[in-house]
Amino acid sequence: MGVYAVSGGASGIGAAITATLRERGDEVIVVDIRNADIEADLSTADGCTQAVVELEVRAPDGLDGLVACAGLGPVVRPASLITRVNFFGSQRLVDGARELVARKRGSVVMISSNSAPMDSDEEYVAALLELDEERACAIADRIGDGHTAYAGSKKAITRWMRRGAAAWAADGMRINAVAPGITSTPLTDSAYADETLGPIMKDFGESVPVGRLGLPADIAGAVAFLLSEKAQFICGSVLFVDGGHDAMLRPDEF
Ligand SMILES: NC(=O)c1ccc[n+]([C@@H]2O[C@H](COP(=O)([O-])OP(=O)(O)OC[C@H]3O[C@@H](n4cnc5c(N)ncnc54)[C@H](O)[C@@H]3O)[C@@H](O)[C@H]2O)c1
Repeated sequence: MGVYAVSGGASGIGAAITATLRERGDEVIVVDIRNADIEADLSTADGCTQAVVELEVRAPDGLDGLVACAGLGPVVRPASLITRVNFFGSQRLVDGARELVARKRGSVVMISSNSAPMDSDEEYVAALLELDEERACAIADRIGDGHTAYAGSKKAITRWMRRGAAAWAADGMRINAVAPGITSTPLTDSAYADETLGPIMKDFGESVPVGRLGLPADIAGAVAFLLSEKAQFICGSVLFVDGGHDAMLRPDEF
């Protein structure tokens, strides 16, 4: 079976992805800030470099797949920390490990969100896509609103994936995104506990068309599929795993 790396694999969705891959016999290297095979702070460029160097040591023959799942929720402050982890931590890890994935003609899955299509600040999203970290972080902190920082980071990482997909394919690799809806994890618990955001998130959770929140295993199943041979013609796609929420909110957009 294959060798995979999962960032954010110590908790929530990343832990479920790790468990799902291990159950089917794959080797999984967890990259996280704590409780991980590779402990690295993906909010910094140095932390991302350290993670890639350690991945080289642990997987010298290359990676069959990489899942960029580490992320922070909208209640984290300063808002720019959301920017640094959710966008730059994922982009740097995936770019840094590209050569390792190329060795096995492997596959990458970015963990986006069904908040990615929601309104954000276009100047912020543009700064992210220009890889201008300091400008993007300054905008995030100036706006100071976690939802804008969070949704914008997910919009930008999804556009970054789609803009790069053809080049990844030309090099024999696939890259896709999974966009989870509201899912029961510590990240969601912290949003529910927030005085301002909590009631909004609870209303959002109650409006999921299938009538329940997502479970980490729901997301993990979709990620495992995208990493598998069965998905070998799928590249540059965004798979919403959200109980019908995106379809309900944006029926004509696809
Ligand atoms: N839970 C949801 O409702 C939901 C919905 C859509 C998208 N997502 C996305 O799914 C991903 C996983 O979220 P989750 O809900 O499982 O949350 P979680 O808090 O359970 O897990 C996030 C993981 O990321 C790690 N992490 C955070 N900062 C890091 C850093 N600086 N360096 C390295 N690792 C770091 C954490 O340690 C943790 O293990 C995130 O990208 C999140 O945005 C979650």
